[in-house]
Amino acid sequence: MTAPSPLSRRAFTRALLAGSTGSIAALGGLNAAIAQKITALNQKFLDDEAPDGVYWEEIRRLYEFEDRFIMMNNGTLGPMPKSVFNTLMRYHRVQVTNPYDGYSILPAVRESLRTKLAAFVGASPEEIAITSNTTEGLNFVIGGLDLKPGDEVLMSTLEHPGHIGPWKLKEKRAGIVIKEVPLSATAKTVDEIVGAFAAAITPKTRIISISHTVFITGLIMPLKELSRLAHDKGLLLLADSAHGIGMLDLDMKALGVDFLASSPYKWLGAPTGVGLLYVRKEAVDKVWPTVVSSGWEANAAASKLDPSGQRSDAALYALGEALDFNTRIGKSRIERRIKVLAARLKQGLAEVPGVKVHTPADPYLSAGLTAFSMGGGLEPKLVDFVREKYNLVVRTTGNAKAGTYGIRVSTPIYVSTKEVDMVVEGVRTLMAHKGRAT
Ligand SMILES: Cc1ncc(COP(=O)(O)O)c(C=O)c1O
Repeated sequence: MTAPSPLSRRAFTRALLAGSTGSIAALGGLNAAIAQKITALNQKFLDDEAPDGVYWEEIRRLYEFEDRFIMMNNGTLGPMPKSVFNTLMRYHRVQVTNPYDGYSILPAVRESLRTKLAAFVGASPEEIAITSNTTEGLNFVIGGLDLKPGDEVLMSTLEHPGHIGPWKLKEKRAGIVIKEVPLSATAKTVDEIVGAFAAAITPKTRIISISHTVFITGLIMPLKELSRLAHDKGLLLLADSAHGIGMLDLDMKALGVDFLASSPYKWLGAPTGVGLLYVRKEAVDKVWPTVVSSGWEANAAASKLDPSGQRSDAALYALGEALDFNTRIGKSRIERRIKVLAARLKQGLAEVPGVKVHTPADPYLSAGLTAFSMGGGLEPKLVDFVREKYNLVVRTTGNAKAGTYGIRVSTPIYVSTKEVDMVVEGVRTLMAHKGRAT
């Protein structure tokens, strides 16, 4: 048994929150050391000419993942920086050991987190709801909009089930009409994409509801141009940006969307259980809240869409630390690094005969998700091959009938050009065998 703490339980919890007892002080110190490390690295960054260099090698060491494998499927779930993990444990411990302080003190974080989240995405705190995940945020908006039978929603043919499902529910309950804009799986220009949506608008269209970060092909939809189109025609625009936060340097004002949902546990390094829902100030009164307790009638801010009831406040503190971690490195530097790695991957894949890259080469229309096909049933074999030979995690994605079936590779900041080259090497090896077999 461990010796009882000399502090009373309450004093202990307060000390825990202040970060001043033994192991807790150590955790706080660790986070401070990580912050200092990034600041020092930033100063050296300008002299660092190598594609990976000391900077990114050191950043990689700040992550909490098993060395056994390197996660290159952030599209589903990504690892946490050590400082985020420390923060999560620190506050989870309060919740576990002192539920009283868990409900009376910890929730105070919510409003400061909302402000931090707003600043991170170029919004105001009144435009931010703190949800649990992207699927929930999309459901809250879609379920909460007043739409009449016959009203039309425009979607693309490249949407995620978490985005299609709530619209199907709305179709059944409210009689709205879903129109799929036929977007080629290999759509590669802004004009082609915006033109396809413009041509599909009718007098009954009310909203354009699309992926920002297309999970199948890695396409980044031109949201700015689509928002402009929507607003010119008096429509709303809802963006499913599940992968956006932590992958792209998001700026809500620049994008001009009405609603955007994102999952910070994919690319940002936050724990599961927390999600971002942005609602443009002018659109807040267009959405009914879904999960309410008292006070919702008087709430004119996006926070009326926060799901009511107890939540994991530890996860909210950890999200705050993840935002700090990314801010210290720099959002634009992160986006640039992710795109540099993806460009190297696409270039390597383009040099392997028989490989078809589904993601646009244009960095305006692509970022950290790269998708490609090999044919001959080699895709699942590649997933196993790179896992067994190089300890890299990638996944299959897409749909054979739609011509989108393939492999999807994420290029987050903690991977190096070495791992990117390993993926290409794996593809080259399997494609060479395919060539011999036919
Ligand atoms: C484009 C897209 N939308 C929605 C989702 C659902 O996200 P979540 O499970 O975080 O709610 C995903 C998940 O990967 C996705 O890729």
